[in-house]
Amino acid sequence: VDPSLVDTFGRRHSYLRVSLTDRCNLKCRYCMPEDGEEVFTPTPGGKVLTAQELKRLLRLFVRLGVRKVRLTGGEPTTRGDFAQIMQDIGELNACLDEPLSLGITTNGVRLKKFLPQMRAAGLRNVNLSLDTLQAAKFPFLAGKPLDWHARIMDSMRAVAEEPFFNLKLNCVLLKGANEDEVGAFVDLTESLPVEVRFLEFMPFDGNAWSANRLVPQADMIESVQNHLASRGLPAASRLPPDSLHDVARLWQVPGWVGRIGVISSMTDAFCGGCNRLRITANGELRNCLFGEQGWNLLQEMRRGVPDDEIIGTIAEAVQRKHAKLGGKRDMFELNERGAKDELLVCLCP
Ligand code: GTP
Ligand code: 5AD
Ligand code: SF4
Repeated sequence: VDPSLVDTFGRRHSYLRVSLTDRCNLKCRYCMPEDGEEVFTPTPGGKVLTAQELKRLLRLFVRLGVRKVRLTGGEPTTRGDFAQIMQDIGELNACLDEPLSLGITTNGVRLKKFLPQMRAAGLRNVNLSLDTLQAAKFPFLAGKPLDWHARIMDSMRAVAEEPFFNLKLNCVLLKGANEDEVGAFVDLTESLPVEVRFLEFMPFDGNAWSANRLVPQADMIESVQNHLASRGLPAASRLPPDSLHDVARLWQVPGWVGRIGVISSMTDAFCGGCNRLRITANGELRNCLFGEQGWNLLQEMRRGVPDDEIIGTIAEAVQRKHAKLGGKRDMFELNERGAKDELLVCLCP
């Protein structure tokens, strides 16, 4: 098999999303089943990729052409060895002629204390999940005490104040919950150098997805423009994407420093330009967010398989990638699998 990361549709996979853990210190409503009961059982520690295994995989993927790595979760900063992982990534990066684009997607609760290590590792791209600017709503949306909201806001400011970091805020809009905050989020972009992104709510096995809660991108944009008009400001204008593979469509209010993004996973999927592979916390390679098949790289490593064989497995996973949505007809079909399925792996995007 061809070991390059090009699939049968000609898409080159240069972006690797690595889940460091499937545990999270929040219980966000959109991640949980309807009744709020936790059916999710985290992977036992012994079955999670160790920092060393991760290092080996990262080296391999970089050899194959990965140029962008984003650490995800669960919540990546809940890993006891997060600082070690930062150091490893920094060392790997320092050996490369051209440094990787390194990022993290985090809820920010524990982020602030890690900023110096992230900086030292060359990790610039911080995407912070923030679904409300109102502390009072936080317990309802995130299932944790109200005062944690201040810690997140504190992390956000610390990242925003440090020009080294590129900050994006991910806000999953839910009808009846935080839809009314579009204007407040947009206003952040007046003076903060941040990309505020509104995300369409997506279904995953076990989460409480409902079409009635989905705010489609067209409505998001209308809310943005209505808000600006109500303040007597000019309309936000469209910007070209930074990269053709980016999932967000961008807008900017003339003269404002930040940008506004919309991620239309449901109403307008962006699979044609997909350049993503992902590794789950338990060491499986997935070729799509919605792909059902996993290739267990952790098991291979623990069986003592040499690099060449692991590369063969990676190549096979890439060759098996579907044109879109892991082979599903459309995003709405995903919900038909039913919210009752046992949640085996946390499928945080
Ligand atoms: P950058 O482009 O590096 O800023 O990050 P990102 O947008 O790739 O990553 P982030 O973790 O912030 O993800 C933001 C949102 O993009 C997720 O909530 C999903 O809505 C969507 N998303 C991320 N990865 C995928 C994917 O592989 N497929 C689909 N369909 N959506 C994804
Ligand atoms: N739909 C859309 N976005 C989601 N996220 C988590 N679950 C969902 C969902 N069901 C977001 C998180 C994080 C990003 C990686 O995905 O808020 O910012
Ligand atoms: Fe890529 Fe699958 Fe996401 Fe589509 S759904 S953008 S193919 S990972």
